[in-house]
Amino acid sequence: MSSLENLSYEERTFAPSPEFAAQANAQASIYADAEKDRLGFWEKQAAYLHWDKKWDTVLEWNSPYAKWFVGAKLNASYNALDRHVLEGRGERVAFYFEGEPGDSRAITYAQMLTDVKKAANALLELGVKSGDRVAIYMPMIPEAAVAMLACARIGALHSVIFGGFSADSLITRIEDADATLVITSDGGFRKGAPFALKPIVDEALAAKKTNVKNVLVVKRTGQETAFDPEIDIWWHEILERQSDIHEAEFFDSEHPLFILYTSGTTGKPKGIFHTTGGYLTQASYTHRVVFDLKPETDVYWCTADVGWITGHSYVVYGPLINGATQVMYEGTPDTPTKGRIFELVEKYKVSILYTAPTLIRTWMKWGDEFPQGSDLSSLRLLGSVGEPINPEAWMWYREVIGGNRCPIVDTWWQTETGAIMISPLPGVTATKPGSAMGALPGIVAKVVDDEAKVVGKGGGGYLVLTQPWPSMLRGIWGSDERYRETYWSRFDGKYFAGDGAKLDEDGAIWLLGRVDDVMLVSGHNISTTEVESSLVSHPNVAEAAVVGAKDDTTGQGIVAFVILRGGIPSVGGEELIKELKAHVAKGIGAIARPKQILVVNELPKTRSGKIMRRLLRDVAENRAVGDSTTLADPNVMKLIQTGLATGKSED
Ligand code: WTA
Repeated sequence: MSSLENLSYEERTFAPSPEFAAQANAQASIYADAEKDRLGFWEKQAAYLHWDKKWDTVLEWNSPYAKWFVGAKLNASYNALDRHVLEGRGERVAFYFEGEPGDSRAITYAQMLTDVKKAANALLELGVKSGDRVAIYMPMIPEAAVAMLACARIGALHSVIFGGFSADSLITRIEDADATLVITSDGGFRKGAPFALKPIVDEALAAKKTNVKNVLVVKRTGQETAFDPEIDIWWHEILERQSDIHEAEFFDSEHPLFILYTSGTTGKPKGIFHTTGGYLTQASYTHRVVFDLKPETDVYWCTADVGWITGHSYVVYGPLINGATQVMYEGTPDTPTKGRIFELVEKYKVSILYTAPTLIRTWMKWGDEFPQGSDLSSLRLLGSVGEPINPEAWMWYREVIGGNRCPIVDTWWQTETGAIMISPLPGVTATKPGSAMGALPGIVAKVVDDEAKVVGKGGGGYLVLTQPWPSMLRGIWGSDERYRETYWSRFDGKYFAGDGAKLDEDGAIWLLGRVDDVMLVSGHNISTTEVESSLVSHPNVAEAAVVGAKDDTTGQGIVAFVILRGGIPSVGGEELIKELKAHVAKGIGAIARPKQILVVNELPKTRSGKIMRRLLRDVAENRAVGDSTTLADPNVMKLIQTGLATGKSED
C-alpha cells in the first residue's frame, strides 16, 4: 500500500473557478439526475452515440453478468469516424502525430476513415471474419489506432499487446485468444534509436504452433527484417490495392469489441473482454464530462500507449467518438531532451493533458527548468491515472504544469472497468490533492470492511462497486470461473476491485493501492507470481519471492528475494544478479525487470507454505519487520536480515 495509508486529513481544497464552472460540460445537477433515475441517465448518455437500432431494454443484470442496451445495434468505427465525416467534420484533425525522431503528420478524420476502410477491406481479403481475434503488437503510431478501428469495423476483436512485451508474453496472449492474424511493424523509435518488433513476432510464432495465418507489417523504421512471403504481408502494399469503399456493418450492442490482457494475482494474465454499446457509451461520456472536452477548440493529449486500457478508452474510442483533436507521440519523454513533452504542448497548443503520476514524479525529479522552458499557457485541464497520486506530486502538477489555473482530475479506474469510475468533475467538484474524490454520476462505489459492511466517513477498507456499469468487463476470455472467483466471490454480489480505500471526514475517497499480489510499477500492473515464475525458470534459481516496494518515481519497484541453487556464490554474484534481471526482462518485458534482487538462504513461509510477502516488503522498504509469529520458522526473518546486511545489491 502507498504512503497515503497514514493519511490524517487533507485540509487543502481547490474549488472550481467561476470562469471554469460557467463553461463546463458538467453542471452540479448531473449527480442528482443520475441518482433519480440511474438507468434513464445512462440512456441519455447512450443517446450521444449513433445507433442503427435502439435498445429494447437498458440493462439485463443477472449478477455477475450484465447486458447493456439489449437489442440495439451500432458500429464502433462508424461512431468514431464515419459520423464525423458525414456530419461535415471530415477536415478536422484527429491526430497530430509526432514521431520520436521529429517527423510529424496531421491526420484528419476523413483520412482516418479512408485508411480504416482500406484496412477493413484488407482484413476481409485475409479472411478475417466477425468474432475472429486479431493480435496487434505495435509502437505508438497512428496505424495502431487504424488497425484497432478496422477490426472493430468488421466485428473482429482486437487484442492489443503492449510493444514492450517479450516474445514469451506475446505468444501466451496470442495463444490464449487464439488469434488468426498479427498486426505489427518493423519497429519504432525509442530513446533516440530504432527498436525492432517484427523479429519478436517471428520468435513468438516459431516457439509454438498457433492458428496465426498472416502477419501484417507496418513499415515504420525501414530496418531490415526477415520476411516470409507465405505469411508476412506489408501493410502499405495490401492497403494500396484496397478499395476505399466499405460500409460499416452494425453489430449487436453486446458484440465483443476487444480483449486486453492484464496481470492477475496468479501468473497467467487475464484476458479482460469488453463489448460494444455499453463500453462506447461510458468511454465517450466520461471523456466528455471528466475532461470537459470542447471538440472544436481543444487539443487533447493522453500520453498512454494503446497497449494499455487508457490508450483504448482515452486515445482511441472516447476521444474519436467525441470528435477530439489529439496529439499522439511515439517516443519517450526524455528524447532528445527532458523537455520534449512540454515542447509538444507548446507546439500543438495542447489544452488538456492526461498522464500518469510516475511521469509527473519523474518531471519533478528532472527539475522545473524543463517545463519552464516551454509556454504551457494553452493548458486548461490536467488529468492523472494509473496509481494513487501523492499530494506533493499533485501540488507540483497544479503549480508548475497547470500554472495554478487548471483543474486536476485524478481518475480511478481499471482495465476491467473499461472507463473512468471515480473522479472529480471539473467545474463542479472542489478537489483535494491526492484524492480521486467520488464516484461519477451513474456509478456506485463503496468502501467496505472485511465483513462487507459499508464503512462510514473516516473509515477504511476495500473499494467495491455495487451496481453494474455500462463499460464493465463482460468476463475473462475463456475462463468464466476465474471471472466469478476474482471479482465476485470476495464480497458476495459486489465487484471487488482489489484496491484499498479510505473515506475522509468529508466522504471523499482516497485510493490506497492494491491489496492483492499485483504490483503497480509506473502504473503498470505486474503480478508477483509472474515475476517469480520467470526467476525460477532460470537454471540458477531454486526459489523466488517478489514484492512491490515503495519507489519515489515509479510508485512501486520490483524487489526479488531469491534462493540460488547451490547456495550463494562467493564470487561472481553481481554478474549473476545482472543476468537474472536481464532474464526477467527478456521473459516478460522490460517493465518487469526487478529493481533489486537480494540473494537469501531462506524465505519466510507460513506453516501451510505460503510466502509472507508482507514481511519481505518490510525488509525491502527498510522498515522494522512486522509480526512474524505465524511463520513456520520464526528465525527466518532474522537470518534474511543479517544475510542482507552483508550483501545488498542494487543498480
Ligand atoms: C490503479 C489503469 C489510484 C488501481 C486505468 C487499479 C489508481 C489499477 C488510479 C488498474 C488512481 C488506476 N488512483 N489508483 N487514479 N488509477 N489505479 O488495469 O490500483 O492498468 O486497480 O487500469 O491501477 O490498472 P489498469
